[in-house]
Formats: sequence, C-alpha cells, structure tokens
Amino acid sequence: MDERLEANRANWDDRVAIHTASDFYDVEGWLRDAPGPLAREIELLGDVAGKSLVQLQCHFGMETLQWARAGARVTGVDFSPAAIAAANDLARRTGLSDSASFVCSNVCDAPEALAGEKFDIVYVTLGAIYWLPDIRGWAKVVADLLAPGGQFYIFEVHPFSMSFDDEGEHLFYDYFDDPESPIVFDDGSTYTDGGQLTHTKTYEWNHSLGTIIQSLIDEDLVIDRFIEHDWTVFQAFPWLEKGADGIYRIPSSRPTQPLSFTLHAHR
Ligand SMILES: C[S@@+](CC[C@H](N)C(=O)[O-])C[C@H]1O[C@@H](n2cnc3c(N)ncnc32)[C@H](O)[C@@H]1O
Repeated sequence: MDERLEANRANWDDRVAIHTASDFYDVEGWLRDAPGPLAREIELLGDVAGKSLVQLQCHFGMETLQWARAGARVTGVDFSPAAIAAANDLARRTGLSDSASFVCSNVCDAPEALAGEKFDIVYVTLGAIYWLPDIRGWAKVVADLLAPGGQFYIFEVHPFSMSFDDEGEHLFYDYFDDPESPIVFDDGSTYTDGGQLTHTKTYEWNHSLGTIIQSLIDEDLVIDRFIEHDWTVFQAFPWLEKGADGIYRIPSSRPTQPLSFTLHAHR
C-alpha cells in the first residue's frame, strides 16, 4: 500500500479506541436502543431482509450492523485492523455475528479480499471517499462487487463544502481532484470527544461531483437518484445550527450551499 495510505491507516487505527469510548458514537446507548437503518436509507433501498450488503470503509461496524438488524446478511470492509477487531467485538455484543462478517482490506483490494463475492447492495456513508486517491478505481470496485441488478447507495460530504476553510467562510482547498496533490493535515485530534492521536499526519483527496458521477457511469451503473442536501449530520462549520433531530442546518441569515449528497444507483 502506498505510504500515504499507510499513514492514513495508522491514524485510523489510533482513532478506534477513542471513537468506541466516545459520547459521539455512544456505543452503550446504541447497544441499548438497537437502532436499525435510517428512514431516508430505507426509503431508497427498501426491504433488505434476506439480501446481502457490503459496507465499504465500515469503521467499527455500527452502520453495517444496523442493516443486519433489518435482516440483511452484512459484510464490512475496512483497512484498519483495529476497526475490524472492534467491529467483530460489536457484532458479538449485538448477537449478530451469524449474519455479519468483517474483512480487513484496502478498498481497492476488496473484490479479491471478498473472494469475488457479489452483493445485492453496496453501501458507503459519510467520511469515506475523500480518503481515497483514485475515485475511478473505487468506482470499478463498487461495480465489481455488485450483483446484476444490485443497488449502490452513498451518502457523503459534498465536495463543494470540502473546498471551504474550517470556518466555512472562504474557498480554500482545490475542488477538482489530483491523485498526486493530496490535502495534507497534521492534526492530533479527531472528530469525536476523547483523546489525542499518536499518528497525526493524514492525506485526503477531494473529488468533484462530476468525477464521482462520471466514474460510476463509466462502470455502467445507472443512476436513479442524485440529491444535494443543504444539511449534514455533523458540525462541519461553526455556524451550522443543530436541530432537535440531530441534523445540522444553515441559518436563514446565510446563503444556501450544498453540504452533503445522496446517490442511489443500480447495476
Ligand atoms: C469516517 S469512517 C466512515 C464510516 C462511517 N460513516 C462512520 O462514520 O463511522 C472512515 C473509515 O474509512 C476507513 N478507510 C480510510 N481509507 C481506507 C482505505 N483506503 N481502505 C479501506 N478503508 C479505509 C477508515 O479506517 C475509517 O474506518
């Protein structure tokens, strides 16, 4: 694996113990309340009972396991051994180990790591694709993992909002992607409450909407829905207002802008 991805993996390994103990992820509350998939996900993906689902970049498996609660046979893929160990532990604690498996692999090697298995649903959510230098290679992996007629779902940070500075006031980072020019961060914090990271250097790549969508079209995916949202689910900018529903919205005093997007496609 290239040294930039090795650095990212060491950083993500550090985050796992912090995240599993954080109020942000609230693992104990999640175990107690046993939520399933979100309503907006079910609206697009429908009844998943008996279907196979793979989540790419599953972290420690909470979202993956929510689909198992809805009756899917689930697989999570992540390149962090610490995340995969924590996901297996979580599966055991939920009693869902029989319908869930977690595989340690770089996304771009997922088809081989999953021994050519095809899935009814490939699922990706927030905070995933900007860790990947090659979005065209990623789209090939998505298509390769899908069974004919299978569905692809992604909910992700909007790349336009990724171009802004931390204050969300000015365009600061490139919008168009260049695999050879990652955005380099050196930061010992993570997005949850909790401790400091040891491996602080990370490499990220913004991917324009055009590149994401065209890469999927080039792999013969048929795009059924594409929605840009003026809301998100975390404090992306200090001026976003959190609602009682946990959604972060733009105050009415500011112009609207896209903060996240959902894309639903099939093969
Ligand atoms: C923010 S999480 C996304 C999952 C989920 N939405 C969440 O918030 O828990 C990002 C995950 O991507 C994984 N990741 C980053 N680069 C990867 C790569 N090249 N291959 C596989 N996993 C990767 C990290 O280990 C991390 O668990």
